Amino acid sequence: MRKIIIDTDPGQDDAIAILTALASPEELDVIGITTVGGNVPLELTTKNALMMVELANRSEVPVVAGHLGPKGRRLVTAEYVHGETGLDGAGRPDPTIAATPGFGPEFIVEQLEVHDAITLCPLGPLTNIADALERRPELASKVEQIVLMGGGHFEGGNVTPMAEFNIYVDPGAAATVFASGIDIVMMPLDVTHKARTSPSRIAAFRDQGTEATTSAAGMLSFAERFDIDRYGFEGGPLHDPCVIAYLLEPEIFTGRLCNVEIETESKLTRGTTVVDWWEATKRPKNAWVANDLDSDRFFALLAERIGRL
Ligand code: RIB
Ligand code: CA
Repeated sequence: MRKIIIDTDPGQDDAIAILTALASPEELDVIGITTVGGNVPLELTTKNALMMVELANRSEVPVVAGHLGPKGRRLVTAEYVHGETGLDGAGRPDPTIAATPGFGPEFIVEQLEVHDAITLCPLGPLTNIADALERRPELASKVEQIVLMGGGHFEGGNVTPMAEFNIYVDPGAAATVFASGIDIVMMPLDVTHKARTSPSRIAAFRDQGTEATTSAAGMLSFAERFDIDRYGFEGGPLHDPCVIAYLLEPEIFTGRLCNVEIETESKLTRGTTVVDWWEATKRPKNAWVANDLDSDRFFALLAERIGRL
């Protein structure tokens, strides 16, 4: 049983990750969900997280809003991918539950004070995570692992030619996290671009006919259209659920321990994760970087788990 905190900017892929985690109480004790401005503004990412907690019938899990956006930088959002609501396709009513009063980074600090060995699962920009670590650097030792979706290497970027969205939105925060010394597992575009939806994979959700699987199928169908147009893929990459799938069945993924640094200065490549995959340097190997997965097993896991809700 892992204690986890999910930090998120729902986003359809975040939502699938949240549902999968909440459907797996034997393996994952979700002690809280913190939200951050990212795909859409904070008000909407918080509302969307609440919607998914309610859909999973797990309203006891606190949802605590965090940062509106990166310190000192304009928030870049992605309505062009996720729709104006950030969760187009979900087909769900507004949540009837409210966010827990408080502030995301403070919630993370409070939980690290009272629990040992929490796994942090960032699915969006790393603003809240970096803030929590900067507030109480000594609490880094209470973080068992950070399993995050972000970055890219062989696949380059999806916001600029070299930068992936979660890192690009707040490169400074990403640099703080990757320099923290905490055990990091990184799910970059190199692996998430191989986790692509297809009609049969979406049908595996839809055909179950429950409220959660129907909503999941609607979100997957909406989200894939952008990537099909953008990349010419036959389906859409499913990014954030790779984090939760790794916690449940790590053997689905392959990768290697590498040094990862973040470009924070260059106008041209700011937000790039510089992954020393071929050990060109002697820099410390601070992250296990996934580059492949068993995508059939991945989608089967997600559909089976969300089918339990
Ligand atoms: O680049 C993909 C990432 O950016 C995913 O986490 C998606 O939800 C968006 O936040
Ligand atoms: Ca996300």
